[in-house]
Amino acid sequence: MFEVHPNPQPRSEAERAAILANPGFGQHFSDNMALATWTAEQDWHDREVSAYRPFQLDPASAVLHYAQEIFEGLKAYRHANDSIWLFRPEKNAERFAKSATRLALPVLPAEDFLSSIETLVTTDQAWVPGGGESNLYIRPFMFANEVFLGVRPAKTVTYCCIAGPAAAYFPNGVQPVNIWLSTRYVRAAGPGGMGAAKTGGNYAASLVAQQEAYENGCEQVLFTDGAERKWVEELGGMNVYLITADGKLITPALEGTILEGVTRDSVLTLGTERGLQIEERKIAVEEVLQGIDSGLITEIFACGTAAVINPVGSIKTEQKSYVVNNGQSGPHTDGLRRTLLDIQYGRAEDTHGWMHKVC
Ligand code: COI
Repeated sequence: MFEVHPNPQPRSEAERAAILANPGFGQHFSDNMALATWTAEQDWHDREVSAYRPFQLDPASAVLHYAQEIFEGLKAYRHANDSIWLFRPEKNAERFAKSATRLALPVLPAEDFLSSIETLVTTDQAWVPGGGESNLYIRPFMFANEVFLGVRPAKTVTYCCIAGPAAAYFPNGVQPVNIWLSTRYVRAAGPGGMGAAKTGGNYAASLVAQQEAYENGCEQVLFTDGAERKWVEELGGMNVYLITADGKLITPALEGTILEGVTRDSVLTLGTERGLQIEERKIAVEEVLQGIDSGLITEIFACGTAAVINPVGSIKTEQKSYVVNNGQSGPHTDGLRRTLLDIQYGRAEDTHGWMHKVC
């Protein structure tokens, strides 16, 4: 159980309303946060929801040196009747546990993970936007907080969950994005590496390529595998899907090197229901570029919790820009996005039991 000690100085209603009117992404946070501590002697303890505030970190805290850290991303949605819901939070709990194991961090039991989120969202329910397609983005994370410079798994660990109102992930809203094909950098090593874990190190590894993408007029970067630099893996912070003229929905198979996206998994179900033929397999970069040129690939989209489903307008290489569907979103991308959002915002029946009511 997370004990609630609410922030004694929450933002005023007017301040909150101004933020909710234009939340952006990842810039504003609610009044409280969830916390728990793990030590080798005491296991998980001191579970609480209390005022959002800075950490006091010792300069020798292990995470600052060896990046023993993991995180998650999920959202709370306000439905028309003002009830508040999470989308498949048990999948995030599962992935958080897998990431913890890979990073030699203690597993936070799923009931604690869910209870921290439910307690925080209930306490800060006024921060869940209503109307439009805004929501409360929830960021659970865990880090090595032992003051020790030796390289070994930490014996003191902090779990925290923060949340903040969010609109579209990309600053231009839901517009087709241009993708830079990174040939110089990879985000993750091959099998045995930590590509499947949601850990800051993978995102840190992606940043130099992301910078290269910006320099080349692109918003996102596409990574290939670390071993052969031949197979499509994922984007900087999203999974990727292709749609072909003959009705196939294709995405790279999970082989331990890419993130097991919750949206990725949901799209497999929704794609099947749209009558698309699903293929989870290795996809060569050449197959993608030739497919765009020949017209076989009619749509490409990125997906993730933050990005939802976002059309890809082009893939740019050192040599050439490969424009997808005239740089426009396509009917399947739009349809899948609409169906997913309708379920999340309670406008369509939740036939899969994906939604989890908080309050
Ligand atoms: C998410 O989609 O929730 C992520 O954590 C990815 C990041 C690009 C925001």
